[in-house]
Amino acid sequence: MAGPSRLQWEAGRAPDALWWQPDRDAVAPPAAIVQPGPRVPKSFVALARAAACHRSADRWALLYCLLWRLTHGERHLLTQVGNPDVARVNRYAKAVRRDVHKMKAFVRFRTMAEPGFEAPRYVAWFEPEHAVVEYAAGFFQHRFANMRWSILTPDRCAHWEGGGAIWFSPGTDKTAAPAGDVTEEAWRVYYRSIFNPARLKTRAMMSEMPAKYWRNLSEAALIPGLIAGADRDVAAMEAAQSAHDTLRCGATPETPGTALARRAEAAERGSLEQLALRAAGCRRCGLCSPATRTVFGEGPADARIMLVGEQPGDAEGLAGRPFVGRAGRLLDAALADAGLDRRALYLTNTVKHFKFTPKGRRRLHAKPDYDEVRACGPWLEAEIDRVAPDIVVALGATAAAALLERRVSIVRDRGKRIDWHGRCLTLTVHPAFILRSRERRDDEYRRFVADLRAAAAA
Ligand code: URA
Repeated sequence: MAGPSRLQWEAGRAPDALWWQPDRDAVAPPAAIVQPGPRVPKSFVALARAAACHRSADRWALLYCLLWRLTHGERHLLTQVGNPDVARVNRYAKAVRRDVHKMKAFVRFRTMAEPGFEAPRYVAWFEPEHAVVEYAAGFFQHRFANMRWSILTPDRCAHWEGGGAIWFSPGTDKTAAPAGDVTEEAWRVYYRSIFNPARLKTRAMMSEMPAKYWRNLSEAALIPGLIAGADRDVAAMEAAQSAHDTLRCGATPETPGTALARRAEAAERGSLEQLALRAAGCRRCGLCSPATRTVFGEGPADARIMLVGEQPGDAEGLAGRPFVGRAGRLLDAALADAGLDRRALYLTNTVKHFKFTPKGRRRLHAKPDYDEVRACGPWLEAEIDRVAPDIVVALGATAAAALLERRVSIVRDRGKRIDWHGRCLTLTVHPAFILRSRERRDDEYRRFVADLRAAAAA
């Protein structure tokens, strides 16, 4: 509490028994407290320190009144943010803190030769909105601890000698500070280099750096020109960037889609290789997105027997090859038992992508629906046309229904030889069915081998 108000306090004067007159000096620095003062919440001390720097004439009356109320039965007064006095003191403190923030950002030191010293003194001129020099001086003391500096303002001036204690002198005018120095151009170069025209937000910038501070900022002279030329500079940056990209990366890299299309174009027309490359980029149904890879058929282009499964499983989707997982191993064994060499057969699927339902880290098989089977139809047709096998063996109901274009009962039609577009079509179970039939697995396996043997004999 400053001198006269402290005396009033000690005399026990209530706020309405006092009258206040404007400061004779612009600023009344808080005096050191010599006797224990009234006990108040800590938050009031911080608030009062800031609000005391406000320029309004009523600040001392307001602070005295708050102090009185806090110590006369209203200890929690500050929590009532809607109370007019509390709102006012908060407003004052906020304005002061904002002013200090601006001071920290916009003080610009210029060098000034000082007789008797080799190193220059750094002197800044600043015009704060409130009487904040003493309040803010500690910040500059820590930030520029090794320099000798002075911050001059119209109210008060702060000085630091690179050690000891900060000292203050009365306010002065701008002529006391150097008008410019050799660092000036460096500031401007720096500012020009950090100014990014592509991120220019004029309104935000004006609120952060209000025009009233510009007159003391050497770089401010650049601002109108930088704003006016922002569009032109962005265009120049973009042009420079694209030239840079070309230099750095060479030609634009091919996307996987265009690479596939180019390879398909180069492959032998109508060959299985060309079909496989085209199918790899297939987007005819939604299964292509979650699937890892397209699994096209494999085997000799002149194979006499073609086996058609349902769709690749997890292992096949990862490997990009048909029948390499559990069902595939069972099929391999059955083929061998039936006296067939897998390498002489063409193995493919009705649907070329793995359809699954994610469960944790696992991908659980899901049955392809009618539209997905239809979407993949042209690939299977093209494979059959190209390989032109004598015998097509449908493994399971999905393959059989896709080939015969009707619902099929494997139980009823199994083993029959069906005349299908001039070829022989036979139906049997899918190897996964055998894996699933626990007790009857051996029987089912033997029947499966017999079906394959019969197909081979046909
Ligand atoms: N099941 C199929 O139908 N095809 C495969 O490729 C693997 C499992």
